[in-house]
Amino acid sequence: MNPGGFAYRDGVLFAEDVAIPDLAERIGTPFYCYSTAGLRNAYREFAGAVDRLGADICYAVKANGNQAVVSLFAALGAGADVVSEGELRRALAAGVDPARIVFSGVGKTRSEIAAALEAGCGQLNVESAAELEAVSEVASGAGRRAAVAIRVNPDVDARTHRKISTGRAGDKFGIALELVPDAYRRAGVLPGVDPVGLAVHIGSQLTDLEPFRDAFVRLAGLVRRLRGEGCPVARLDLGGGLGVAYRDESPPSAADYAGLIREIFGGLDLSLALEPGRRLTADAGILVSRVIYMKESGGRRFAIVDAAMNDLLRPALYDAWHGIDPVRLSGPGAAIVDVVGPVCESGDALAVQRELPPLAAGDLLAVRSAGAYGAVMSSAYNARPPAPEAMVNGDAHAVIRPRAEYDTIVGQDRVPDWIAGGAA
Ligand code: LLP
Repeated sequence: MNPGGFAYRDGVLFAEDVAIPDLAERIGTPFYCYSTAGLRNAYREFAGAVDRLGADICYAVKANGNQAVVSLFAALGAGADVVSEGELRRALAAGVDPARIVFSGVGKTRSEIAAALEAGCGQLNVESAAELEAVSEVASGAGRRAAVAIRVNPDVDARTHRKISTGRAGDKFGIALELVPDAYRRAGVLPGVDPVGLAVHIGSQLTDLEPFRDAFVRLAGLVRRLRGEGCPVARLDLGGGLGVAYRDESPPSAADYAGLIREIFGGLDLSLALEPGRRLTADAGILVSRVIYMKESGGRRFAIVDAAMNDLLRPALYDAWHGIDPVRLSGPGAAIVDVVGPVCESGDALAVQRELPPLAAGDLLAVRSAGAYGAVMSSAYNARPPAPEAMVNGDAHAVIRPRAEYDTIVGQDRVPDWIAGGAA
């Protein structure tokens, strides 16, 4: 079995020991399918590589927030990185130790800060001078002190898609490196906060170690400078960002990533936290979809499938490339097709001009590397119930988020009296 947990047997795609066509019959399409073994392997590979660093692995819940996934990682030893009260609640519900939850994010509201403190979150990452004041006020109002890390904007280009690059000077994230000492000193005198360290996250889907190196070198320099000025810095949160191979990228190994961290921070006597998301989940998930119609138009061939941009937004939002494979391997032959969904936008394409075996209505397709930033970014656009999520373990499977009922989607709206009454 390949590490993601998906492999062909006699020409049929399996998730571990479960045949995808059988799952499709039971669950209906489209649906997400995760492999427990794939998730576990990814976690163990990462955790094994960073083991010697003694780093705390705080899984970035945003990558895949299903509580089954978060619980699995918690059971394997992970803490969590959350960016909203909703994610905080998910992590708590999944059994993550609150002391090992890091609350990140550029716009935490006062009520979210209060919720984090109430829950006993181990660390809040602060991204602006204004937020620092707010955290201190909320904490001291509640008779508490918050352990804060200052998120540094190191002005490093992560060389990833511009929409997921977060460490350049013009990005909204973090406090500019040269302003961090002031913020750190301020944190040292505010009544409601204890500055425990620094945080950095320069972007996601990095396929090269060099931007990490640039950012980490700047961070190490800042640690030395702060300590030289008498500020205690005990902890560094190095964020996430390690990429995966969607197509032909060759992202760094977790071992090389760990080696870089050891090289740069090894001598500094710091406790480290890492926030991997994509690397732990992407390859362990697929999105299964069925071809509804084939169509030729304007010289192009379209496979119109039942999954759409509301289920998997990445291709429409980032022009992201996801592998697409037939669930049943067929004979020779190939055609160039656009794999498109039913949503009424031309951007609703899962793949453009892709070479695939000849397809027919009713065929099942597997969209690869869909375990990260897939289901979490889905919506009910076009009033489509987002694809449900299933998890496989050996020959067992469970639906870990059912398909929303139409009544739930349609029944959410409330028509005010002045319209329902007919006065309009
Ligand atoms: N820590 C922080 C503070 C983050 O902002 C993120 C991701 C992570 C950790 C996890 O990064 P990862 O290890 O997954 O690269 N929706 C986009 C990705 C957005 C990532 C946002 N922040 C996509 O589909 O590519």
